[in-house]
Amino acid sequence: MKQPKHFLQFTDLSAAEYQHIFERAQVLKRRQVSGELYRPLVGRVMTMIFEKNSTRTRVSFEAGMSQLGGHAMFLDGKSSQIGRGEPVEDTARVLSRMADIIMIRTFEQNMVERLAAFSRVPVINGLTNEYHPCQILADILTYIEHRGSIAGKTVAWIGDGNNMARTWLQAAKLLGFKLKVATPVGYELQVLDGQHYDSDCFEAFHNPASAVAGADLVTTDVFTSMGFEGEAEARRDAFEGYMVSADLMKLAKPDALFMHCLPAHRGEEVAAEVIDGPQSVVWDEAENRMHAQKALIEYLMLGRVHD
Ligand code: CP
Ligand code: NVA
Repeated sequence: MKQPKHFLQFTDLSAAEYQHIFERAQVLKRRQVSGELYRPLVGRVMTMIFEKNSTRTRVSFEAGMSQLGGHAMFLDGKSSQIGRGEPVEDTARVLSRMADIIMIRTFEQNMVERLAAFSRVPVINGLTNEYHPCQILADILTYIEHRGSIAGKTVAWIGDGNNMARTWLQAAKLLGFKLKVATPVGYELQVLDGQHYDSDCFEAFHNPASAVAGADLVTTDVFTSMGFEGEAEARRDAFEGYMVSADLMKLAKPDALFMHCLPAHRGEEVAAEVIDGPQSVVWDEAENRMHAQKALIEYLMLGRVHD
């Protein structure tokens, strides 16, 4: 049996594949905005497993699958047998005999890898503790729409060295831009699986000003990610001084963009005047989850489509 193509980490696709996906996302976006129907997936089904909360990921996948002519089905950890300990390998075997593609949001990356290993159909990572590749796909699409190619640019990440930061780093190496990360001590970005990043694509700081200086894009995320709620109080103290403020934004290039994957906390990781200000593209970024993922689904299920 032919092995399906999965999207479990950003490193799963090549730069050439991303170029195709970004181009297709813009084509599919134009079609959707103009009201043109494009339904290559009539009769096809996506199952979406959620073991963590979601607004954007659920709606963007469900709306995107419907627009492509298919159907998306929501399964949550608690009301399915997944929450009662059915092995993920068995879940993969069963779901992939009924569905044509699977999306999963869960805790450990290992769970997603095990699901994919036993699935006959493509598996998409909709966020784990370690990675959030669909979000970075949408973020880079948003950058391209506003500023053109991201190659050679500098992205500043301020805050937690979390799943988002780690995925930005994978993208930086693959797509040829630089990631400058500023985290508090103890919350540094940890690279996994022996992956190596040299100073062409990665620099780490503890001072937000050093990371933001001259950046083309400034981005941040919640101080406490899902699954780490028990650390929220300690994190609030540790992240003092890591808010993306208007003064911090002034250190970036004058035409720098601001992004946040959302949900956001105004006055914690970002000042209201930044996220609601003229440099912020967070609503385009959220909308682009759907357009980018439609192109990803099309690519994983149908290969390179050019019509
Ligand atoms: N950015 C993001 O993944 O949002 P949700 O948690 O609402 O899906
Ligand atoms: N880092 C955040 C992203 C939420 C979309 C989390 O994992 O909760």
